[in-house]
Amino acid sequence: MDITNATVFITGANRGLGLAFAREARNRGAAKIYAGMRNPNGFEEPGIIPVRIDVTDTASITAAAEIARDTTLLINNAGTAALIDGPLARDFEAQSKQLFDINYYGVARVTQAFEQILSSKPRAGIINVLSDIVWLPRPYLTPYAASKAAAWSYTNQLRFHLRDRGIEVLGLHVGFVDTDLTNGIDVPKSSPQDVVRKTYDALAAGKSEIMADEGTALLKSTLAAELPGYIMPPAGLI
Ligand SMILES: NC(=O)c1ccc[n+]([C@@H]2O[C@H](COP(=O)([O-])OP(=O)(O)OC[C@H]3O[C@@H](n4cnc5c(N)ncnc54)[C@H](OP(=O)(O)O)[C@@H]3O)[C@@H](O)[C@H]2O)c1
Repeated sequence: MDITNATVFITGANRGLGLAFAREARNRGAAKIYAGMRNPNGFEEPGIIPVRIDVTDTASITAAAEIARDTTLLINNAGTAALIDGPLARDFEAQSKQLFDINYYGVARVTQAFEQILSSKPRAGIINVLSDIVWLPRPYLTPYAASKAAAWSYTNQLRFHLRDRGIEVLGLHVGFVDTDLTNGIDVPKSSPQDVVRKTYDALAAGKSEIMADEGTALLKSTLAAELPGYIMPPAGLI
């Protein structure tokens, strides 16, 4: 699916990767760009239409879908992370519930609200923003990793479920990206612009998954090994 002439709806598009998706869609000649966000006040970007949506609030999702009935490409980007002391931390359950509500149920809620809209178009697509964390052991990100792994699984079920309805589903996996989410973490990071360019290129090429940086591609390549990356991460990734 080509982004040119598509009508795009992006969740969490007021900043970070979501805003980069919106701007790159504009660069590539998208017909219309809806930038979903919790608080549209003060958002001003030429050619980008702000729409209020909180992915934990079903009423706001329904209202956003009503506004954006011409959407042909849905980008489930909104997400958040939390650092904890590991899988045995006291706040594990509370943090997990909050992250699942946004990163997993949020993706499913928005997808369900837009499914009829996308199904009615001759050509449509969904991009789900996932992570290398689905395969990488980082105990301090356990709730985030579990929520993204659940979203990855949902993405795979969804792709297969929609395979005969003309809706392409693309999963984006990437390691650290230079956004507010990784502020204060001193590691090499991809630029949001580079990630979205690779993602739109993958969509245009009809791919089902994109590994948007070398580390994530290397990690995925270990999955069939006797000691895959989720047991023995490749050197330099942890
Ligand atoms: N940065 C990384 O290293 C990295 C790596 C892999 C994957 N990702 C994924 O990339 C996506 C975008 O993250 P980012 O790096 O751009 O982070 P970010 O700069 O912190 O942006 C997160 C976006 O999600 C929105 N959001 C959070 N909760 C929401 C909710 N309940 N409803 C609607 N919007 C909500 C935020 O809105 P507010 O402004 O209102 O808070 C913001 O627009 C996430 O899914 C993240 O998991 C990021």
